[in-house]
Amino acid sequence: MKTIVVSSSKGGVGKTTISVNLAIALAKQYRTLIADLNLDTPHVVIHLGLIGFKYALQDVLLGKADLAKAIIRINTFKLDVLPTRTFYQQGDANIPYKVINFPFLIKDIENKYDYLVIDSDFRNINYLSKLDNLILLLVTNPEITSVIETRKIVEQAYKLKIKETFIVINKNRVTEEISPKKVESIGGAPIIAEIPFSKKMNEALRLGIPLVLSDPKSDFTKKINNLAHSL
Ligand SMILES: Nc1ncnc2c1ncn2[C@@H]1O[C@H](COP(=O)(O)OP(=O)(O)O)[C@@H](O)[C@H]1O
Ligand SMILES: [Mg+2]
Repeated sequence: MKTIVVSSSKGGVGKTTISVNLAIALAKQYRTLIADLNLDTPHVVIHLGLIGFKYALQDVLLGKADLAKAIIRINTFKLDVLPTRTFYQQGDANIPYKVINFPFLIKDIENKYDYLVIDSDFRNINYLSKLDNLILLLVTNPEITSVIETRKIVEQAYKLKIKETFIVINKNRVTEEISPKKVESIGGAPIIAEIPFSKKMNEALRLGIPLVLSDPKSDFTKKINNLAHSL
């Protein structure tokens, strides 16, 4: 099983958008699981239009539910999901300290999947050094502050000895742009994909049907499919 961690130090750059669409693109060909370790702002379930699940990642990390019990199949997306509760419940405060156990918990399921995609903030990242076959995708917008923050986490990734670290440029806002060449030199890691802005994104989010399915011919979908093929 390869583990693709999609992360960034800033919020709002497109981590969840890319995680969800990439996972669905991979799921067309491979056994794929998506997990949401972005514990402060877990939005994967919102992007997937998933409601009414019984167990969540929080229950798994607290030892209240088995991992296998918490995983849900979304047949229309051919995708398995380990959902994370968006709102806090009593007892959830200690969960960030338990993320370090996640790589051990997934040992039980690693033969069941070809790809695990994780949407992750960069706060509790020590768990990354415990993951095998890891590819780290750092999402940035083509603007200077976003790229500088990316540089900071690229350096942390190198300290954790993560070899496969790449930058994904996501043009999720129309802003002052800097060239891909500059993104690489300032960011400090190679670019693996440039994902275009799509006007249809808000509608996809409102419907809970990610763009790779609702807009298959778009440039966005082509670029996500190319990214999936390169992993
Ligand atoms: N390529 C894109 N084109 C248009 N809108 C995008 C794109 N990527 C992300 N967005 C929008 O930007 C906002 C933030 O994206 P999100 O994936 O939630 O960021 P993050 O997970 O990094 O906080 C969302 O409203 C999302 O729909
Ligand atoms: Mg998010």
